[in-house]
Amino acid sequence: MTDPAAALDAQEALIAAARAVRAHAHAPYSRFAVGAAVLDEQGRIHAGCNVENAAYPQGWCAETSAIAALVAAGGRRVMAVAVCAVAAEPGTPVTPCGGCRQKIREFAADDCPIFVADEQALVATFTLGQLLPCSFGPAHLARP
Ligand code: THU
Repeated sequence: MTDPAAALDAQEALIAAARAVRAHAHAPYSRFAVGAAVLDEQGRIHAGCNVENAAYPQGWCAETSAIAALVAAGGRRVMAVAVCAVAAEPGTPVTPCGGCRQKIREFAADDCPIFVADEQALVATFTLGQLLPCSFGPAHLARP
């Protein structure tokens, strides 16, 4: 379970981190810069941006970068997520892609909040369960 109060406390800091790291996105092909930040179980924030590649399918998303940073720092749970991007249609929430929803799911509970922001404001808040209902996760695998 995510602690909703702690996640809410971190909301502003998470969005700020996602906005800041968005400036470092390597997105010369799509020109669609995305920043993401994840809160770990120790209250630490890890940020990442999208990293595109001239061999297009080799690029990856901001959320993936942020999760990699969390794991590399010894984090084991994703308690909350913020994503910052600017949609072509202003006010349209830029939610994590399907693959990133599953990657978040590896480390997060259904009630994990996902804050979607643009450069100015919070656009929408979802839970992971809303974005990825009836999901497959680690508990489905039999462990020795
Ligand atoms: N992208 C992200 O980084 N996160 C998302 O949630 C949606 C899409 C990136 C992938 C690609 O570099 C660019 O945005 C356009 O799809």
